[in-house]
Amino acid sequence: MDVAERDRRYVARAEPADGVQVARSDGCFVFDHHGKKYIDFTAGWCVGNLGWGNDEVRGAIRDFDGPAYVHPDHLYRPWAELAEALAGVVPVKRAKCYRATGGSEAVEIALQVAMAATGRTGFVALAGCYHGNTLGPRSLAGDRDRYPNLLAHCHRVGPPLDDRAAARVERLLEGGKVAAFVMEPVVCNLGVLIPSGEFMTRVRAACRETGTLFVADEVATGFGRTGKLFASEHFDLDPDVVCLAKAITAGYAPMGAAVVSGDVADAAGVGFYSTYGWHPLSVAAALANLRYWGKYKDRVLANVAAQGDYFRARLGGMPFAERGAIRVTGLAIGIEFAEESDYAAKLADRCRDAGLLVSADEDNLLTLFPALTVEREVARQGLDILERCL
Ligand SMILES: Cc1ncc(COP(=O)(O)O)c(C=O)c1O
Repeated sequence: MDVAERDRRYVARAEPADGVQVARSDGCFVFDHHGKKYIDFTAGWCVGNLGWGNDEVRGAIRDFDGPAYVHPDHLYRPWAELAEALAGVVPVKRAKCYRATGGSEAVEIALQVAMAATGRTGFVALAGCYHGNTLGPRSLAGDRDRYPNLLAHCHRVGPPLDDRAAARVERLLEGGKVAAFVMEPVVCNLGVLIPSGEFMTRVRAACRETGTLFVADEVATGFGRTGKLFASEHFDLDPDVVCLAKAITAGYAPMGAAVVSGDVADAAGVGFYSTYGWHPLSVAAALANLRYWGKYKDRVLANVAAQGDYFRARLGGMPFAERGAIRVTGLAIGIEFAEESDYAAKLADRCRDAGLLVSADEDNLLTLFPALTVEREVARQGLDILERCL
């Protein structure tokens, strides 16, 4: 039985895998089992931000000599070190970290902390959002046809994220029943939707006035993706909670974190056991990732700005068969085609055959998330492939 057949039979998925059988990854490239080389403009969807095989992180994993496992009740020096390091870079006041295994768990923790801290049950999020696959995040998204028993009192506000949307959020928060407003500060899951500064300022202020927590889901945007270490920084936003995962270990091990302001953590007074939250090996990878960012942040973010400009210019000049809205923030790049179109999905298939990996998040939404370390020549080659596939 070949791998595709075995996968179809035993691995549960909504749709069959895309056919790329990954054997190896290196920098901005993924290689399949035949040795075919793909330029990777997905970075595993905002995971391998430093390119695959970052020496610092790989070295930390290779040299890891710590305990196999640490019981959550014990002290473990690297846990305290990692929490302190995150508190030093994440824009949350007097931050404390809850350990988690990934993004869904981090968001789930944020929602439960918000309920415990405020004594409220409501949530407001963006229409069409994605915050993970557990029932809390799914409740924010609101897919009641498939999951009828989602959390009650979840409200959604649709784009564009302008003054009118801000006014809708303000009205929803007025009654004092909403525990938290939750969003990605740059919405990667809606094709890199960029909120207006006014929207962010008004919503943050409304949260403060009504005692509602502002939860920034930086699972996808965190660690440089949008040109700042965290996307909240574009808006001088100081969220009550920041959720992290994906690039927190540069792709080397699973991890999530809910970074919560000290006041909120104290008011909530709750804990989360999380058996595998912050496994020692994952912590070694995350600490190495943070060390890398500590040393090379300016250099990486300068490259993000330069290559982001190049992507914007090239994409703006491309003869797409359909008119699309092109949105670029750092190296978070989204192209949205007309709602009923399946152009993005077809384009992603053609690119893959031609040796370029891009994501069609919906049939009409194409996203490009190249490694933040991508070189101009690789960016050029990848964009040449995309252009040939139009
Ligand atoms: C913004 C956002 N939040 C949360 C999640 C869930 O993260 P995980 O897949 O690690 O559970 C994702 C995953 O794509 C995401 O994009």
